[in-house]
Amino acid sequence: MTLPMVVPDPGLPNRVTIYEVGPRDGLQNEPALVPTATKAEFVRRLVGAGLPVVESTSFVHPKWVPQLADAADLVDVLVADLGDAAREMPVLVPNERGLDRALEKGLRHIAIFGSATETFAQRNLNRSLDEQFAMFEPTVTRARDAGMDVRAYVSMCFGDPWEGDVAIDQVVRVGKRLFDLGASQLSLGDTIGVGTAGHVTDLLDAFNAAGLSDDVLAVHFHDTYGQALANAHAALRHGIRTFDASAGGLGGCPYAESATGNLATEDLVWLLHGLGIETGVDLDALVATSVWMAGVLGRPSPSRVVNALA
Ligand code: HMG
Ligand code: MG
Repeated sequence: MTLPMVVPDPGLPNRVTIYEVGPRDGLQNEPALVPTATKAEFVRRLVGAGLPVVESTSFVHPKWVPQLADAADLVDVLVADLGDAAREMPVLVPNERGLDRALEKGLRHIAIFGSATETFAQRNLNRSLDEQFAMFEPTVTRARDAGMDVRAYVSMCFGDPWEGDVAIDQVVRVGKRLFDLGASQLSLGDTIGVGTAGHVTDLLDAFNAAGLSDDVLAVHFHDTYGQALANAHAALRHGIRTFDASAGGLGGCPYAESATGNLATEDLVWLLHGLGIETGVDLDALVATSVWMAGVLGRPSPSRVVNALA
């Protein structure tokens, strides 16, 4: 296959971490229910392609996200296939009930997911902006007491479909409060993909000024307006070293209709490898995985790199 010519940028790191969300963010929004065995095959292939972190599923209410109602079964299959490594894969957990389900499976990494806006907190969590903290606080405390690692997401960082612009200081206030519950990392979500590069830089500056350095931040871009890769590049140049992405550009949020797919992992890998930055990812194996998944889902991947290489 063709690889990008490598032209390193001396100001950038040698290596970054890709946090793969395809099996969770990618599949939570699919109209069709994907069989558990197919999801397990997807995760196995992603691990085989070298993705260092794969968020496997969500322990949310099965009626709220029926696509991931098989979370416990999927973890069983993954543990049978991959052993203890499957227990290192993060899962979304919104509350203590979700935590109990994750603990029953012996999982070691959870991710809570808060909203920077009132409307999305209501729609996605059935809680007000303030009430979401009352739900997360005991969840994180108990998870930490059980020795788990906790990631926090904050959604609607760059705009909200109901409320419009979201002030940077509001995003920072909510994000810092979520992080301070006891998270090791805060992932900044552009849930509906409206952000642009200068906005990314300003938001990261504001988090840094509030005491959250780039080391504890990650970025999570959806690609609705085609800005996800440019935004990732802006974040990379700023100092971010963890990037969320989804194989083949799958993704969306069932509670935010204007959310489309995530930044495609392949597009991100092409950029990073061209800059001489290691990811550990075998691009051929990843593209083959996304082509296979596109066949399963019955529509082509939106990723430019997948289509160019397939
Ligand atoms: P609720 O209806 O308010 O729940 O939903 P509740 O606390 O009132 O409980 C009602 C019943 O549900 C109880 O059962 C609970 O036990 C049960 P009952 O006593 O009546 O028999 N229940 C559960 N069962 C299984 N697992 C659970 C669970 N929780 C309660 N975890 C809730 C509140 C938060 C649960 C619900 O709103 C929910 O599940 N929301 C999840 C929505 C979601 O998954 N959205 C997509 C992920 S977020 C995203 O995609 C954004 C992100 O990618 C970043 C970005 O792009 O910005 C992360
Ligand atoms: Mg998302």
